[in-house]
Amino acid sequence: MLTGKKIVLGVCGSIAAYKAAVLTRLLIKAGAEVQVVMTPDATQFITPLTLATLSKKPVLVNYFTPDTGEWNNHVEMGLWADLLLIAPISANTLGKLANGLCDNLLSAVYLSAKCPVYFAPAMDLDMWKHQATQNNINKLITYGNMLIPPGSGELASGLHGEGRMAEPEEIITFISRQLTQQLPLAGRKVLVTAGPTYEAIDPVRFISNHSSGKMGFAIADEMIKLGAAVTLISGPTAQKANLQAKVINVTSAAEMLQACEEAFPDSDICIMSAAVADYTPVEPHSQKIKKQDSSLNIELKKTTDILKKLGQQKSARQLLVGFALETHNEEQYAAEKLQQKNLDLIVLNSLNDAGAGFKTDTNKVTLIDRSLHKTSFELKAKTEVARDICRKIIELLPA
Ligand code: CTP
Repeated sequence: MLTGKKIVLGVCGSIAAYKAAVLTRLLIKAGAEVQVVMTPDATQFITPLTLATLSKKPVLVNYFTPDTGEWNNHVEMGLWADLLLIAPISANTLGKLANGLCDNLLSAVYLSAKCPVYFAPAMDLDMWKHQATQNNINKLITYGNMLIPPGSGELASGLHGEGRMAEPEEIITFISRQLTQQLPLAGRKVLVTAGPTYEAIDPVRFISNHSSGKMGFAIADEMIKLGAAVTLISGPTAQKANLQAKVINVTSAAEMLQACEEAFPDSDICIMSAAVADYTPVEPHSQKIKKQDSSLNIELKKTTDILKKLGQQKSARQLLVGFALETHNEEQYAAEKLQQKNLDLIVLNSLNDAGAGFKTDTNKVTLIDRSLHKTSFELKAKTEVARDICRKIIELLPA
């Protein structure tokens, strides 16, 4: 959730400032870009050098750097940030921000910021309980800022109670959870199928196709970025799944059918990008077939059309997306599949387009929805195609 996020980490004068080192480390490790801004008092608790080393950026404290006369532009920083996190925030800074006071760089960045603001208080028990502190906190919340509540425990004063800053790991979890909840597919369960299937002829041979699984894995990845909980049912591929996906590995069309039937009832959205074999040997040989005659016949039977079966089971709250790979009469065949299989959306890729289809990193698709509205896209990286498909799915989602 924090990958690529630009974060201003404000650090105030409190003994909990020592936790800012671990917090900075965790934010950097999570892939965020961190600019630390300290209040002058905070520098008495932890050195700017520590936080500059961990954040890989000079720490800012004043409006200008006295040695160089360089101006630290608070407005620019406020606009640069995707997120302002003040941890720890002292009772003093709480009071300033609640009342619009602006006598140091951090308070000026706060007033200039347009991004979400999170604040994690740290102070002694009685300071925390004081009505003035509570009023300031309530004011900050009514301004739209988010409180990361303090925990209870032994405080620096020796007293025991509320006021301890949340632990750095808890702060990261709190923010990540909040950011996830704001995503368009938060709370949605998505089922994605990907890759080819292998249909056994004998213990050493199988029938398959050239599907690499790249398109389905890119869709699973994009769905996770949009906040969905993803189950990825994959045939044999060399692709690496997003660690947040629940991956179910299958080999044959029959195994994929069983896995899909189990996962489908609990899914809100189902995207079937797997290249499932249409035919499978009637009776796979239990032993390796030895070569004998000049020709060999293997009798094949039709596999179950998983997509069609799910289309028959689909409820009004579920959205079903299929793929069509065609070589001729592309749009007509795709539209027919959409209707016959009771789909909400079909992703058509034509083998006639250079760079589209199996194995490549690119694809060129046309999306056709249930009102037969068509959108054609240029040749793009499969990751971008995944984004286009997901965007369309969000448009089609029942409210
Ligand atoms: N599909 C499926 N189960 C199968 C075969 C295909 O679920 N046994 C799904 C694929 O995952 C894809 C869609 O059906 O989403 C389209 O597959 P495609 O092979 O293009 O179409 P078919 O309906 O099988 O028709 P044809 O092969 O005749 O084009």
